[in-house]
Amino acid sequence: MSNHFISPIGVFDSGVGGLSVLRAIRQQMPKESVIYFGDQGHVPYGPRPLQQVRDFSEGITRFLLSKGAKIIVVACNAASAAALTYLRQTLPDISFVGMEPAVKPAAEHTETGVVGVLATPATFQGALYASVVERFANGVELLQDTCVGLVQQIEKGDLSGIATRKILEDALHPMLEKNIDTVVLACTHYPFVIPLIQEIAGEKVRVIDPAPAVARQAKRLLEAQGLKREIGSQGEVRFFTSGDARLVQSLLPKLFGEDGNVQALQWNGDHILKAVSFSASDLS
Ligand code: DGL
Repeated sequence: MSNHFISPIGVFDSGVGGLSVLRAIRQQMPKESVIYFGDQGHVPYGPRPLQQVRDFSEGITRFLLSKGAKIIVVACNAASAAALTYLRQTLPDISFVGMEPAVKPAAEHTETGVVGVLATPATFQGALYASVVERFANGVELLQDTCVGLVQQIEKGDLSGIATRKILEDALHPMLEKNIDTVVLACTHYPFVIPLIQEIAGEKVRVIDPAPAVARQAKRLLEAQGLKREIGSQGEVRFFTSGDARLVQSLLPKLFGEDGNVQALQWNGDHILKAVSFSASDLS
């Protein structure tokens, strides 16, 4: 690895969604190097059984650790719901930062007392969501929608086309009729369609993207452990996918705001990732 690719932060998602978190990490910690994995070979995670998402998450985590990741950011609500507790138990020496549906700030700030939550089925099924609702909803009415197909639209880079708009209108119109004033984005893909959400819901509806808070949490953890990189030039970001590397690479400028080189990996069962289009030494 090159000199400035030392001890990267490991970040993963089922696909491009985690790039919304990576953007915030990049803004807040530009000197950090990052290794990003998008599991496009299995996207979407949302409709899959939690056990399977947990297996994928463990395989990806072990891959990121094998590349020297000093901390793991689970930049995926579905993977956080399915795997975060398990990963922390299984790898107690590693620090994990996960996604938690932002019900708390929504409940604190809503004036109408009605909040929309957009997430995938895995997130709504997980114990994490039940726990934040129980702890923080405090009598606030939560209206939920899984936005079927939205993750796939975003994976194609379609952030404002007819099909994408229809999915969001179908989700938001019934919520708006019930007077929501806040929308919680509990899927890391969804911040990419915030402009469309605001267009449909109006500028007065507050949309909560948890990415900046998650990046702050990662920063706090690194500082507390003396692992935050304070010197040197801008860190490097390396991208890996279990899907079509060229497609992901073509989306980076639009979704991440920077170009990047994407390398393809192949799953060997649900647990092991190996190189496909280049020699294993390219990874070391
Ligand atoms: N981006 C993911 C999340 O935050 C998962 C989307 C999916 O693969 O279904 O939940």
